[in-house]
Amino acid sequence: MMHPLRPLHVGPVVVDPPLILAPMAGFTHYPFRLLCREQGAGLVCSEFVSSHGLVRRMKNTWVLVDLHDDERPVSVQIFGADPAVMADAARMIEDAGADIIDINMGCWVPKVSKTGAGAALLRSPETASAVMRAVAEAVRVPVTVKIRMGWTGQNLTGIDIARLAEDAGIRLITIHARPATRGYAGNADWDYIAQLKASVSIPVVGNGDVRSPEDALRMFRHTGCDAVMIGRGALGNPWLFRRCLAFLRTGDPGPEPGVQERMETAARHVRLALAEGPEDVVIREMRAHLAHYVKGFPGAAPLRERLMHLTRADEVLESLAAAATSLPAGTAGS
Ligand SMILES: Cc1cc2nc3c(=O)[nH]c(=O)nc-3n(C[C@H](O)[C@H](O)[C@H](O)COP(=O)(O)O)c2cc1C
Repeated sequence: MMHPLRPLHVGPVVVDPPLILAPMAGFTHYPFRLLCREQGAGLVCSEFVSSHGLVRRMKNTWVLVDLHDDERPVSVQIFGADPAVMADAARMIEDAGADIIDINMGCWVPKVSKTGAGAALLRSPETASAVMRAVAEAVRVPVTVKIRMGWTGQNLTGIDIARLAEDAGIRLITIHARPATRGYAGNADWDYIAQLKASVSIPVVGNGDVRSPEDALRMFRHTGCDAVMIGRGALGNPWLFRRCLAFLRTGDPGPEPGVQERMETAARHVRLALAEGPEDVVIREMRAHLAHYVKGFPGAAPLRERLMHLTRADEVLESLAAAATSLPAGTAGS
């Protein structure tokens, strides 16, 4: 046993193992969440959903709330800066069946942050506190929050916000260890995660730059976090959860999936998505996922190029099936 892998309790929700799929806009729809759950993620999250869109019952917003029983436990992330609207949105999401409601305080893109929502809340502690309290009081399911270290590197408010979260009745904090204005540049600062963990008594999830089983172990050991969240490393690579789990249990992550398994999983991902929406929309949306599945092996580049232009599901599935049998087996590069 490399790491004890203690199940994480978030109110009535048990996150076991304590490995979590990060919310990723454009990627963490139900099919991908299910694949990650099957490979060992203990919790999966929807992408961020607008609280205003939810309360106005906008169709484009509600399609993002695509919850299914076989993926539970599942968390739905909402964003907004108006405590009353956030509370109403949270009640609606609870009724829709979310096991956990997560508040986004990490998104820095202007469309979100200029409304005072997302990471902008990190520089408005009073509003952040009011939003967290309103949501936590509005629902029975546990409410969690996902933050960054602060808005800029000069003003690291993350730990202060974490303390306010604890006071507001938030049950768990995820920290993506970069300041918001840094985007994804530079390395995540795992020392800050360790400091934050030592500053609050509610569970802390460490996030940022975990791309391998060895990284997951280092994240646990370096920060003392209660769970590890993985985002980009899982794209086109849901097996990362299986390999992290094996490594944390035994010290051996097991083999990387071969090309055949990767293509078969990509095809299953496409079929799961086709069950959820119209073919033209699904095939367009699946391109980003397919670009991640189809890389790092001989013949990947031309196949990827072809997949970016196909519009019909049968053509996509045929191409993946042909690749599964014709390309040399062997392991995937990175
Ligand atoms: C394409 C993409 C979309 C993202 N969308 C969201 C989102 O909707 N909500 C959120 O809290 N974080 C979002 N993030 C941030 C991730 O959840 C995560 O914090 C970040 O990618 C760092 O983790 P990683 O190094 O494991 O990728 C997104 C990241 C990416 C790459």
